Amino acid sequence: MPGFEIINYKEAQAINNLFKKEKGILFAHGFDKIRKKYHVRELEKLFCKKINCKYSLAVSSGTAAIKIALLALGVKKGDEVITQSFNFIATIEAILDIGAKPVIANIDHSLNICPHDIEKLITKKTKVLLPVHMLGVPVDMDPIMKLAKKYKLKVLEDNCEAFGATYKKKFLGTIGDAGVMSLDFGKIITCGEGGVIHTNSKKIDKFCREYHDHGHENNVNRPRGRDTRSIYGFNYRMTEMQGVIAKEQLKKINYIISKNRLRYNLLQKNISSKIKLRKIPKKSKIIYDTFIFFVDNASKRQKIIKILSNLKIGTKNLPDAIEWHCSFYWNHMLKKDQLNRCKKSRDLLKKAIAIPIYLNRNLKDYNKLVKSINLCFK
Ligand SMILES: Cc1ncc(COP(=O)(O)O)c(C=O)c1O
Repeated sequence: MPGFEIINYKEAQAINNLFKKEKGILFAHGFDKIRKKYHVRELEKLFCKKINCKYSLAVSSGTAAIKIALLALGVKKGDEVITQSFNFIATIEAILDIGAKPVIANIDHSLNICPHDIEKLITKKTKVLLPVHMLGVPVDMDPIMKLAKKYKLKVLEDNCEAFGATYKKKFLGTIGDAGVMSLDFGKIITCGEGGVIHTNSKKIDKFCREYHDHGHENNVNRPRGRDTRSIYGFNYRMTEMQGVIAKEQLKKINYIISKNRLRYNLLQKNISSKIKLRKIPKKSKIIYDTFIFFVDNASKRQKIIKILSNLKIGTKNLPDAIEWHCSFYWNHMLKKDQLNRCKKSRDLLKKAIAIPIYLNRNLKDYNKLVKSINLCFK
């Protein structure tokens, strides 16, 4: 379930308070003498506490977060960044925006990066491994971290789609050198648009903090107008409006995951044993927001998609938005050899059906759904 399903009076009240009680100060920086609160800064502390990391920086989007984090990890023009074929277009855009080269590894039945496909792609130009925890499920991180150590590479986790999930008891986004999440409207928690960069490295956080705010060092001995700077940056700041909403949404994350789990478990328990399910890495806890399985037979697949459509549940990315999530289709930004590499992934993704888990659909709805799906396999 995406957080937008339970946006309610709490978020509205937080916005009202911002205007009524706090003079409508919408900027997250400065105005020190006239403001009572710094909501975005508070939000960052809450994220650190939630996922147990030292630093969190809120920015304007998940896409911006990826770009800033890559820059912080030292990625420059001409460097190579290895990421995966099942993804969202934003990850590749962030790499290209820096002038770096995206190198695409295939996925396996977890629908995340296949660790065995990475090593052959590493060259002298490779700087960063960028695994993407797709649709609520962790990448198997141990082999990735091993490769990073062996070849002295940095790891950036794109955790835009799995905030709240864990791998070996660690929250995603805290395993690599840095992790990013998205707060856009389709995500597990949302403030409309927004992103966060998590890291345990003071150096990485310092770069990101300065870069996202035109290089401001936020020197405590200076007013903002006379602040010091040593790098140039850009404007990727989050506003206080986003900050207050995100703070309310963060309070709801455990509730959202627990409600997701009920619906997901019902599907998992009752679905026909003839159906192959998405592989989930051992010792990981997922966020249960998408239930994915594979159907080899094209006509059965169409039948199931029709069932989902008739019940007004639909599918989530697979197959409805496959062209935005599989790099095989991105001939406007990837070279032919990269596209061809992803054929294998495309073939696997084409067999996958992703059921969105919604809170506004009750257990009865999912029960009806799974029964109808099972009839296709009788
Ligand atoms: C895997 C992945 N990476 C990056 C992004 C970009 O996040 P945003 O929409 O906040 O820019 C998304 C958003 O859909 C995503 O799913």
